[in-house]
Amino acid sequence: MLTNGQDRPESVLRIKGKATLSGHVPISGAKNSTLAIMAAALLCSDSTRIRNVPAIADVQTMIEILKAVGIKITQSSGALDIDAKHISQSHVPYDLVNQMRAGFFVIGPLLARLGVARVPLPGGCAIGTRPVDLHVKGLQALGADVIIDQGIVQAYARHSRLKGAKIYLDFPSVGATETLMMAATLAEGETVIENCAQEPEVMDLANFCRAMGAKIRGAGTKTIVIDGVTRLHTTDFGIIPDRIEAATFMVAAAITRSTITISPVIPDHLTAAIAKLEEIGAKVVLESSSRLRVEGSPRYRHTHIETLPYPGFPTDMQAQFMALLTLSEGNSTVKETVFENRLQHVAELCRMGANIKLQGNIAVITGVSSLSGAPVMATDLRASAALVLAGLAAEGETQMQGLHHLDRGYDQLETKLRNLGANLYRQPLGSEQSAI
Ligand code: UD1
Repeated sequence: MLTNGQDRPESVLRIKGKATLSGHVPISGAKNSTLAIMAAALLCSDSTRIRNVPAIADVQTMIEILKAVGIKITQSSGALDIDAKHISQSHVPYDLVNQMRAGFFVIGPLLARLGVARVPLPGGCAIGTRPVDLHVKGLQALGADVIIDQGIVQAYARHSRLKGAKIYLDFPSVGATETLMMAATLAEGETVIENCAQEPEVMDLANFCRAMGAKIRGAGTKTIVIDGVTRLHTTDFGIIPDRIEAATFMVAAAITRSTITISPVIPDHLTAAIAKLEEIGAKVVLESSSRLRVEGSPRYRHTHIETLPYPGFPTDMQAQFMALLTLSEGNSTVKETVFENRLQHVAELCRMGANIKLQGNIAVITGVSSLSGAPVMATDLRASAALVLAGLAAEGETQMQGLHHLDRGYDQLETKLRNLGANLYRQPLGSEQSAI
């Protein structure tokens, strides 16, 4: 039997094209907040409750990682109760961190709580080399000795507690900002992190840590200041809505020339996506402080997109917008500056009739009048969403493989799309001959 590498039978997602969507779609809690906040729960020598947790494979992987270090976790409808009173292990197994880069983020909390952490170099989507040098340099500045041996990053606190430090990040890495902010919450004295990532998920993590009693200010700006405390206390915390999921549905409305409403959202987190949709000709209406209506248009203009750290255009939305630009008039460009290998969906979109030329990290997209359904392969999480969107707009049927990518980060994408009127479903690979 064909499997997806995780011992589940391999499936294909069949998507009927020329879909028209209507209705309302509920947005789940943010994947990237949840994963960092689950890691941060390790900082608390008590139990914490996290609500609005999305039902995605990456959360299950993070649960396994926390269990592997001896943490007790109870799952109940969208909530996690994490009891981190006792951490029995400082070592995280390779086969878990290999599945997801965010698994590496436990290094900061483990080191802060235990004075030692041994975490394998991470995996995740194959969108670039994704080193962890910024995490490592920052931990060293906080007073850790770090050795990388046989693919395992081993960090040892030189003193009984980490020591506050001034840290400058060469690049505003989301993960490094989060790792170092978490480690510094329990360090002795003040830590100042300069050139931080300003992503909303970093702010959500800081709010969670503050709810546990951490002293953090400046999250969401370029400078975060943390005054270390000796212990953190219990809390009950709700995750923010997923801005990438929300923006994916906004593009779904636009690419199918449909009108849908989306909530809950934090519109400020969607500024770049809204600006680009409006620039090419879609209408985005703020119906309330947490609800948007997106109205597609019969025709779209071209535009130019460059991915940047927040508040710039998110790299996690690049593939989905590229799908939309394949059907926009004229020549658009998409420049990927955050990851060095995040344009693998170009070849798959071209299989569906898109006209895209690659010039280094720039995709030049010449709009075509229609896409046609084709067998395609999901190459990473957001690329898989882009192919679903393209499939919804195309003539005929698209059959997508590589669904484990989609399952990592979208909470019931197919069910949500079906509830909006789309026709798509999974079948075991090899049984896709019947009519859709
Ligand atoms: C996080 C998000 C991911 C998003 C990305 C950028 C999570 C779980 N994932 O990933 O969805 O696409 O932010 O918004 O939150 N880099 C280094 N050295 C380091 C760390 C990073 O060179 O030590 C480089 C990376 O290779 C990459 C760039 O910095 O080219 C951005 O990476 P980073 O912001 O760290 O992304 P992640 O935290 O991995």
